[in-house]
Formats: sequence, C-alpha cells, structure tokens
Amino acid sequence: VRIFIPGDSAAVAVGADEVAGAIAPEAAKIGQAIHIVRNGSRGAFELEPLVEVETTEGRIGYGPITPDEVPALVAAGLFSGGEHPKRLGKPEDLPFFLRQTRLTFARCGITDPQSLDEYRAHGGGEGLKKARSIGAAATIEAVTKSGLRGRGGAGFPTGIKWKTVADTPADRKYVVCNADEGDSGTFADRMIMEGDPFLLIEGMAICGLAVGATKGFVYIRSEYPLAVEAMNRAVETARADGLLGAAFDIEVRMGAGAYVCGEETSLLDSLEGKRGQVRAKPPLPAHKGLFGQPTVINNVLSFAAVPHILADGPETYVALGHGRSRGTMPVQLAGDIKNGGLVEVPFGISLGELVDEIGGGTLSGRPVRAVQVGGPLGAYFPRRLFDTPFDYEAFAARDGLIGHGGVVVFSEGVDMAAQARFAMEFCAIESCGKCTPCRIGAVRGVEVIDKIRADEARAANLAVLTDLCETMKYGSLCALGGFTPYPVMSAVTHFPEDFGVTTPEPV
Ligand code: NAI
Ligand code: SF4
Repeated sequence: VRIFIPGDSAAVAVGADEVAGAIAPEAAKIGQAIHIVRNGSRGAFELEPLVEVETTEGRIGYGPITPDEVPALVAAGLFSGGEHPKRLGKPEDLPFFLRQTRLTFARCGITDPQSLDEYRAHGGGEGLKKARSIGAAATIEAVTKSGLRGRGGAGFPTGIKWKTVADTPADRKYVVCNADEGDSGTFADRMIMEGDPFLLIEGMAICGLAVGATKGFVYIRSEYPLAVEAMNRAVETARADGLLGAAFDIEVRMGAGAYVCGEETSLLDSLEGKRGQVRAKPPLPAHKGLFGQPTVINNVLSFAAVPHILADGPETYVALGHGRSRGTMPVQLAGDIKNGGLVEVPFGISLGELVDEIGGGTLSGRPVRAVQVGGPLGAYFPRRLFDTPFDYEAFAARDGLIGHGGVVVFSEGVDMAAQARFAMEFCAIESCGKCTPCRIGAVRGVEVIDKIRADEARAANLAVLTDLCETMKYGSLCALGGFTPYPVMSAVTHFPEDFGVTTPEPV
C-alpha cells in the first residue's frame, strides 16, 4: 500500500515527519507492507499533516493527523481507506480544491517529487519535447502568445524578455531563476521546488533552448533548506537521466539572507559573489546580466508555467484570465484566515471570493479589517475594495499590486498605524543603501509615523509623510524604496481613524 505524507516545509513544520515515523511501526505490528511517499503539499494547510492512502477507489485523505492519533487511525483501517473522524474522502473533491484550476500546481502534492519516472507518467517532460520539436523561435512565440507575465511581481511579458535575450548577440548567455521568495505570506516558489522540482528544471531547460543559454542558476533563499536539498537532488537525477547535461545544466546556489537580494540586479551581484546591491538599470539584465552577459532572470512560477504552455498550446493558457492578466495565478492565503494555503485560480477572481469563499473568512472569527496583497510592499485593502478582480491592472488602478500573489488577512484589532510604521521600519532595515530616498527616507518615515501616533503636530506630520512617500515612490532606484509608500499610504487613506484623523475616506 502506498501512503502519502508530505515532506513539504509547511507539513513538516506541523509534525509530518513525526506522523510518518509513527505510521511505519504501526504497519509492521499488523504485518502490513507499506511504501511511504514524501510528496509535496497539496496546499490546504489546515489539513496538514495530511495522510493519504492509495485505495481501489482512489486516494483517500485523513487530516490533520497528529502522531498520537496514528495507532487509532491504523486500527480504524487506514490502509484500506477505513472510516475515521478525520477521514476527508478524496482530497480533490474538497470545496477548497473544486474552486481551483491547477496548471502550475497540477502535480504538486500528487506525485513523488523526486521520481522522474512519476513526473513523466503525469505529463512531465512534454513541454521540453515540444520545444525541441518546434525550435527556439517558435518556443518564444508560444510563450509570447500565451500572455504569460512575470510571476515574481512586476508582470513583465515573459516572451518579450526571452526574445530580448535571444536577440542579443553574445558567446555566453545565462538563465537565472529567482527563488529568493522574500515576500511575507508567500510560499508558492518553495512548494514547487519541494513538491515538483522537475517542473522548474523543465521550464528552465525550455528557456535555455529558446534563448541559446547552456547554463542556469537557481538562487534560493537560505531560509529554505528543504527546497535547496530537494532541488539539488532533482538536478542530480536530471543529470543522470540526461535531461540536464552539456546542452543545458543547472547549478543551485543559496541566497545571502537579505530581502533586497530578491531584486534582480542585486541577486546577480550576489550570484557573482559580491555584496547584494542594486545596480542601476539600464543596462537591463536581458542585455547585460550575470557576469555582464545577456541573462533571463525569472521567478520560479514563471518558469514553472512554461512546460504546460508548450505542452498544451498557448491557446488554452491565454483563454483563461482577465484583461491583460492571462492564465492562472498561484495565490497564497495567509494571516488570520481559516483555509490558508495555496490556491491556483485564473486571473479575474475577486479579492472577496478569495478571502471569504475559498479562504472561508478569518480563523479567529473576528471580522476582516484589512488585507495586504503583494507582500510587505503591497497595499492594505479594506473590505470596501473586495470587489477588486485579481488582475495586475485592476490592482494598480486602486493603488495596489498583486506582486507575487501573497494575500495576508488582518482582522479587527489590527492597528494600521503600527502596520504603516512596520512597513517603513522594514524598508529601513532591508535597504541596500544605494539611493537616498530609501536609505534616509525610510528612517525619517519611521520617525514621522511615531510623531503622528504620539499626536505631535498630527496634520503637519501627515503632510510630511505624504510628501516623503511621493519622494520615495518616484525617486528610489528599486521597488523596495519605491513601493514602501503603498502599504504606508493605503493605511493612511483607508484607515485614517488609526492615525487619529477623522476625514472621510476619499472615494
Ligand atoms: P521592473 O518592472 O523593473 O522589471 C520587471 C522585469 O522586466 C525585470 O526582469 C526587468 O529586467 C524586465 N524588463 C523591463 N523592461 C524590459 C525590456 N524592455 N526588455 C526586457 N526585459 C525588460 O520590476 P522589478 O524591480 O524587477 O520587480 C518589482 C516587483 O517585484 C514588484 O512589483 C514586487 O511585487 C516584486 N517583488 C517580489 C518579491 C518576491 O518575493 N517575489 C519580493 C519583492 C518584490
Ligand atoms: Fe537600495 Fe533602497 Fe535604493 Fe533599492 S530603493 S536601490 S534597496 S537604497
């Protein structure tokens, strides 16, 4: 009997290793031969550790399971899908999954992440096969036609980026994967690397073929040791298989621990062995990137979307979505939310549907007060803006961003002035120091917010804060200083009462 217990960081954090350790001796006691697969997580975190058993009716899930529940679970007939209060039936039939369209995450939580055979048995490898058969130019055309935009946060068209690198003459070109997933409330990159690493390898290999690069790097943040291990093992397997090799090879590098190393030029400096500091653009990395060579640098999710686009054709991908945001987005629900986890949905779903319907509202039961979308640099949206469709332009039109798809829910009781202060303080701590609006502005920002909170010349200091945010927004060299005004000003605009101001919210 095959038993699936996720080896994903999120599941391990809530005891998946201990549950796996408790199942083997219980099986031995009753003479049941089992094979435990440490799969990725399906992304329904409130059910982790989720134990699944392969039965004649399909996979039956039980969760969340604690190690001390294992003997009773085995006694209840776990190995044949027996009844138990924690029996969930087929996980894919749960409402959390029925609302989703899983393309990038189709295999995550289903297959053994380290088995290349299983990867291929579940459709893996078809995208690269297609790319090899149609050639570089047609591959780039397919990616462009799909409408895929950079999933790291900026939403730049992936096909155009690849074409820029392909068209730039050079002896050597590079493919770099940005896996320095630093946004608060985000974990989709980690889930792919731990739960379906060959997908990322395949996406990068397709990119190498398309732009004429033979070498790729995956830059993973040091806080993700399990992802580093999973990627290294998968790269070795792919080399032994011939999927990676002379035509295209990949090296995994561990990040240097700074948030700003997720900014692409800073990441390139860090990869080159220097201190991670932002470079002025131009030149774009597509023209002059790693070691001065033309470089594609994309987020994990961008590369991971490509195999499906090639295998099933760009038409199926572009048919999904909303406005100029095409395809699906892996959204990550976190904070005070009942059904937290990974939700892959076509663009266009409203923020309210994500939080109230799929997310099930708050875990605490308190009303939602604010939702921060797009990481620490994203705006706070009040319930009044829950009709905003998940779409790059729709969020930008309301002074927000979808970024890397992180959604963090805050319930009644949150002090939004404290949150604004936190945003400025975060920027001050993480600033690389290269430009003045960010390096000095963030420090002054904390001081001004402190004065406002202490009711010191409140109106005048709010004007100073607004002015400072404008300067940071337009004068900063990169998104860290440039986007910090989003959380700060959205807090002031939508929650003025927390700043001691009674002016009604502007419409
Ligand atoms: P950007 O708008 O400067 O660039 C986007 C991408 O397009 C870059 O790779 C850039 O090199 C490329 N590009 C721009 N013009 C091009 C052209 N003409 N030809 C070829 N390539 C071109 O944005 P940036 O600074 O790279 O990213 C900012 C975003 O990062 C923010 O929106 C934020 O949401 C996100 N972010 C994500 C984090 C995460 O953990 N994933 C953490 C922090 C920020
Ligand atoms: Fe560095 Fe901040 Fe300027 Fe970005 S905005 S270059 S992090 S000082």
